[in-house]
Amino acid sequence: MKQYLHALAVIAWGVAFSALPVNASWASVELAQKKACLACHAIQHHRVGPAYKLVAQRYGSRPDAVEYLSNSIKNGGGGRWAMGVMPRQNLTDDEARQLAEWILSLAN
Ligand code: HEC
Repeated sequence: MKQYLHALAVIAWGVAFSALPVNASWASVELAQKKACLACHAIQHHRVGPAYKLVAQRYGSRPDAVEYLSNSIKNGGGGRWAMGVMPRQNLTDDEARQLAEWILSLAN
């Protein structure tokens, strides 16, 4: 019986752990990789485009930050970082929002 309870506890722990945001952010890294964002961006430093950490710091305090960045990611554009132009990205609204939320979580 004791062993059975222990097994249950381990399963419960596994379920709880899989719901942690750590995994959500891992999914976002994979999405960013799949969509080739990371060909032009890095988290800590500038590449072709701005470092995601600085993007998060720049817009994080805006009340409409997620909305703003979702649109910005989908539509691309230029003139905000003096780094050239980002091409329009082929993303669903959900994907753009997931990436925007992930980038905003990188401020620290
Ligand atoms: C071909 C290179 C390239 C690719 C691919 C690319 N970006 Fe960018 N990105 C840029 C450049 C250049 C800028 C700077 C544009 C500017 O100065 O306004 C930028 C800017 C941004 C910004 C800041 C926008 C703002 O409003 O300040 C975000 C957020 C961003 N990119 C996210 C992404 C995401 C997410 C993807 C993948 C879906 C992606 N980028 C793919 C080059 C790229």
